[in-house]
Amino acid sequence: MNDVIAIDGPAASGKSSVARALAARLGWNFVNSGAVYRAFTWAVLQNGTDPADESAVEAVAGELEVTGGLEDGESWVAARGARLGPELDAPETNRAVSLVARVPVIRERAVEQLRGHAMSGPLVMEGRDIGTVVFPDAPWKFYIDASEEVRQSRRAAQGLVDQVAERDRVDSSRKTAPLAVADGAVVIDSSNLDINGVVAAILDHMRAGGFVAAGEAGA
Ligand code: DC
Repeated sequence: MNDVIAIDGPAASGKSSVARALAARLGWNFVNSGAVYRAFTWAVLQNGTDPADESAVEAVAGELEVTGGLEDGESWVAARGARLGPELDAPETNRAVSLVARVPVIRERAVEQLRGHAMSGPLVMEGRDIGTVVFPDAPWKFYIDASEEVRQSRRAAQGLVDQVAERDRVDSSRKTAPLAVADGAVVIDSSNLDINGVVAAILDHMRAGGFVAAGEAGA
C-alpha cells in the first residue's frame, strides 16, 4: 500500500480544500470520500427510494451502480454510468446523505472503493472515518475542526444550503463508523486559519515526525 494522509472532521470544517491543496503540494492523489456517499445518495434518490427508510436503502444497495476512479490526481464518482458533478452538492443530496451513509452495506461498498485508490499511488483522503476505519494504519492522521458558526458561514459563502449541525449529529451518533477523532490523530482547529495555514500546520507536524517530501529531499 502507498503512503496515506488521513484527514477527518465535521461538515464544512475545510478539510476538502485543505486535502486538495496538500495533495497538490506533495504531488499525491486527492480523494474526497464524501463524494462516494453523495453518489450513493443521488442513486438512492433517482431510484425513488426513501433515504430515511434504512431497510429500503439496504434492500436496493446491491443494485446501485456507483463507481469511481482517479484522474489527474483527483477522485471522480459515477452513478448509472454517468460521472456526477454539481448534483453531488444539491440541497436534496445534502439533506439525505447522512441518512444513506449510516447504512452498513452502503459503507462496505464505499470503503472497498476508497481503499482501492491506495493501490495507484500515495494519497490524501478526507472524510469522517478515514483514520478510524478506512486506513487505521495510516502513518499520518489529522482531525480538522472549526466552530459551528464558522462552518455554517463557510457553506453559506459557497452559496450552498446545508444542514451542517444536523449532519454532524447523525454522522457522530450512527452505529457504524461514526465521526470520531482517530487514535493518534492530530487535532487542528481551523476556525481562525485559512487553507494555507492548515496545510502548513499539517506539514509542520509531519516534518517533526520525520516526513521528507520527495521534492523537499535534501532541502
Ligand atoms: O465530506 P462531505 O460533507 O461531502 O460528506 C457527506 C456525507 O457523507 C457526510 O455527512 C457523511 C458521509 N460521509 C461518511 O459517512 N464517511 C466519510 N468518510 C465521508 C462522508
